[in-house]
Amino acid sequence: MSQLQSWWKEGIVYQIYPRSFKDTSGNGVGDLKGIIDKLDYIESLGVDIIWLNPIYDSPNDDNGYDINDYRKIMAEFGTMEDFDNLIRAMKSRGLRLIMDLVVNHCSDEHRWFTESRKSRENLYRDYFHWWPAEKGNPPKRWSYFDVKENAWKYDANTDAYYLHYFSEKQPDLKWENPLVRQEIFQMMHFWFQKGVDGFRMDVIPFISKDISYPEINANEPHEFIAYYANGPKVHEYLNEMNREVISKYDAFTVGEGPGIAIDQALDFVNEDRKEMDMFFHFDLMSLDRAPGEVFKMKDHKWNLSEFKKIFTDWDAAFANAGWGSLFLANHDFPRAVSRWGNDSKEHWKNSATLLHTFLLTMRGTPYIYQGDEIGMTNVQFSNIDEYRDINTFNRYEGVKNQGGDLEAFLENEKYAARDNARTPMQWSTSENAGFSTATPWIKLNSNYKNGVNVAQQIKEKNSVLSYFKKMVAIRKSNKALVYGKYKIIKPAHEQVYAYTRQEDDQRFLILLNFSDDLLRFSLPIDISYNRKIKLISNDKILDDKTFKEFALRPWQAIVYKLET
Ligand code: NOJ
Repeated sequence: MSQLQSWWKEGIVYQIYPRSFKDTSGNGVGDLKGIIDKLDYIESLGVDIIWLNPIYDSPNDDNGYDINDYRKIMAEFGTMEDFDNLIRAMKSRGLRLIMDLVVNHCSDEHRWFTESRKSRENLYRDYFHWWPAEKGNPPKRWSYFDVKENAWKYDANTDAYYLHYFSEKQPDLKWENPLVRQEIFQMMHFWFQKGVDGFRMDVIPFISKDISYPEINANEPHEFIAYYANGPKVHEYLNEMNREVISKYDAFTVGEGPGIAIDQALDFVNEDRKEMDMFFHFDLMSLDRAPGEVFKMKDHKWNLSEFKKIFTDWDAAFANAGWGSLFLANHDFPRAVSRWGNDSKEHWKNSATLLHTFLLTMRGTPYIYQGDEIGMTNVQFSNIDEYRDINTFNRYEGVKNQGGDLEAFLENEKYAARDNARTPMQWSTSENAGFSTATPWIKLNSNYKNGVNVAQQIKEKNSVLSYFKKMVAIRKSNKALVYGKYKIIKPAHEQVYAYTRQEDDQRFLILLNFSDDLLRFSLPIDISYNRKIKLISNDKILDDKTFKEFALRPWQAIVYKLET
């Protein structure tokens, strides 16, 4: 094997957005007991690791990404006892748990901040980035969730501005202060001692800032993001965190890596660096966005050749060291099948299962977002009142204040909004899709009545869900699909994504028709073999009798084992 083996490379991660997973208390909000109730289901998928979005005490300005108390469970989600029960129940099933680590910022209601803002002499003053007003206006910093996109908020109490890369209720913590780092490291030990297996680290490259605050010579958001990701001490802090905390456990970490460019990747994840194990890059997530825009769609089009190039380049980046993560969606982006497939009635099933095939035959650790295993689709809200996300609200306000085109804004959100991924999990055809007996905190996607639900799909042999499970089993029983070398075939082809995976004498051929057309695809001469065995396909095979020529139905996916 070219790579060292480990459980987190072989594992498949299932991401749970607790607010929308399963409500047992009847308040319309998912909870920890709901997750416990569904562990049999999660186990039946064949996945190994659960990543929980934040479950800590929070005023929920940004659905838990604004933390009040890092050692307390959000009351809506349950209690610490529920958490202990969850972890016990997971361990008895051999499931591992990673938690969200949100330490670039906390909530403005956290005691550290309420103290900090009291006076310039307060003991906690230096836990945050303050800019005294007598120095004049602070240098421009861009904020994701601010109506004016301004990351500095004036606080009259002490006549100073504080920094918030996200909403004004999410002040950035000052990692330069060793006390802050110690608080965070102690908190991480607390969760490890409870039995968690690692962390997904929210916007982790942003923790280090150039606190001399030079003027940034950039007007485009993406340039700010690249700047934010390259703080002068980011590697020092990650290394310290690893040394002080992570290295003491059999743990793994995955960073959220906005702004990390491919040529910087190994600086974060090369084993020798002892920083983190893998991270989520943002290249794919930017593919259908307007240049430099985080939330605005391009023109609803993206090219398969560019899609392939992203995966191929990132695979090469980790060919000999480091390790990659694979994801097509999460709680911050639209639904995978609506974005990378075709969610129309005709193509929904094949494209959802094609995406499963892709995710589970590439090199890297796959992350599947809740609901994608049953092919959940974008909800496409048309009214601002239907949204719940601060990101949509604040950008809407921003457009309104500037007299912009609100209709165009809402049209964009139908495809781009984060709430598309946050509608409740669709368990059955019963009331509220079996998610809750109360009105859910956010509207459901009504297609739970039309086949997009667990109860129905669990019974059908050919459902999207059953296919997902089969694909998981195939990955699990073939290590070459985890570690094997990836080789792309015909990279410029705009409809078919084809590649091989190989480790020693195990070789696989994967054919994916990313289009609405029935077409013929031929292999180049350098791919030769004596026999091929079909392992799985999401549709009937029309013609694969020769060694070279294949007929592929719209969105058809086929995995062959090749023998020589
Ligand atoms: C990334 C998280 O995934 C997102 O949901 C959140 O809004 C921001 N970081 C801020 O914490």
